[in-house]
Amino acid sequence: MVRVAVAGGTGQVSQEEAPTTTTVAPEIHWQIVDYNDKEILVEALRGTHTLLSFVQILSDPDQKAQKNLIDAAIAAGVKRFAPSEYGSKGTVDMAWWHGKERIREYLEEVNEKEKILEYTLFQPGLFLDYLAYPYKTAKHVDPLQSVFDFENKRAIVVDGHEDSIMTLTTVADVAAVVARTVDYEGRWPTTGGIRGNRVTFSRILEIGRRVRGCSFTVDKVKVEDLEAGSLKASWGLEAVHRAVSEDQASALLKAVSIGVLLSSSKGAWDISDELNQLFPDYEFTPIEDFLAKTWEGKP
Ligand SMILES: NC(=O)c1ccc[n+]([C@@H]2O[C@H](COP(=O)([O-])OP(=O)(O)OC[C@H]3O[C@@H](n4cnc5c(N)ncnc54)[C@H](OP(=O)(O)O)[C@@H]3O)[C@@H](O)[C@H]2O)c1
Repeated sequence: MVRVAVAGGTGQVSQEEAPTTTTVAPEIHWQIVDYNDKEILVEALRGTHTLLSFVQILSDPDQKAQKNLIDAAIAAGVKRFAPSEYGSKGTVDMAWWHGKERIREYLEEVNEKEKILEYTLFQPGLFLDYLAYPYKTAKHVDPLQSVFDFENKRAIVVDGHEDSIMTLTTVADVAAVVARTVDYEGRWPTTGGIRGNRVTFSRILEIGRRVRGCSFTVDKVKVEDLEAGSLKASWGLEAVHRAVSEDQASALLKAVSIGVLLSSSKGAWDISDELNQLFPDYEFTPIEDFLAKTWEGKP
């Protein structure tokens, strides 16, 4: 059994993964560390085979915490690393996720001359659980709104880009696939695409109509307006991630809607399928089944 360390272990996504990863069970040992203290990090990581990072990237624009974790992992002889990704393939138009790009660059940089740290970027797309908002369908991850508002039967789409692709994977499926990847003894692919469901915006609206019993009200917004930072829609997101402060909330919520819409029209959420290929027997939760079950009998 190899030793797996989880950075950001108190987070919502990390707690979904931890109980699923058989290599960690039955004993989970907690340690409080200072991400600014590399020596402490190296000591904490000695003997670790795989380091999974789930640290919150929003309040750390330079990604000091994750860069220190990478440096310390290399110094401590850690074999494998997975940064705090768990989202889209591209981060274009999503400034709040540009930190992920900094870490992708840093990982390429440290491995430039010689492969010294094996790593994978776990990319499952958007959590399908968010289409259940306001209902909580994951054990730890809180519900969050998206441009697909199943509760109020409405959505925002980019005019002329109804065929843009969204990849949607349940948090439970992400946890199960990450656990298999940790247990996998072969070399990790650099991009760890997890394709739970690959669907167009139109298809999501079709499923919405079926499971909610009527058509959605669709606000069609224009690329030019979005590029200019304007969201001309009749409604907007209100529920904010717990890591976002109150004074940043309204600007970020607008930026998230604009960013997700624009980036999806540019292919950022059309996730690759490396981990589907690695674990062909794994059965992902189909979007139709998940949403039909979630919304059955709901007002
Ligand atoms: N695809 C999607 O739909 C989706 C949705 C949600 C999240 N995500 C991604 O999943 C990852 C984890 O997100 P999460 O929602 O689980 O995050 P979270 O719960 O807000 O935070 C994760 C952990 O990061 C650590 N942390 C907090 N502030 C920090 C700081 N300033 N510097 C360094 N570490 C800090 C804390 O752990 P410790 O105190 O234990 O260090 C915290 O528990 C992120 O990369 C996020 O982008 C993806």
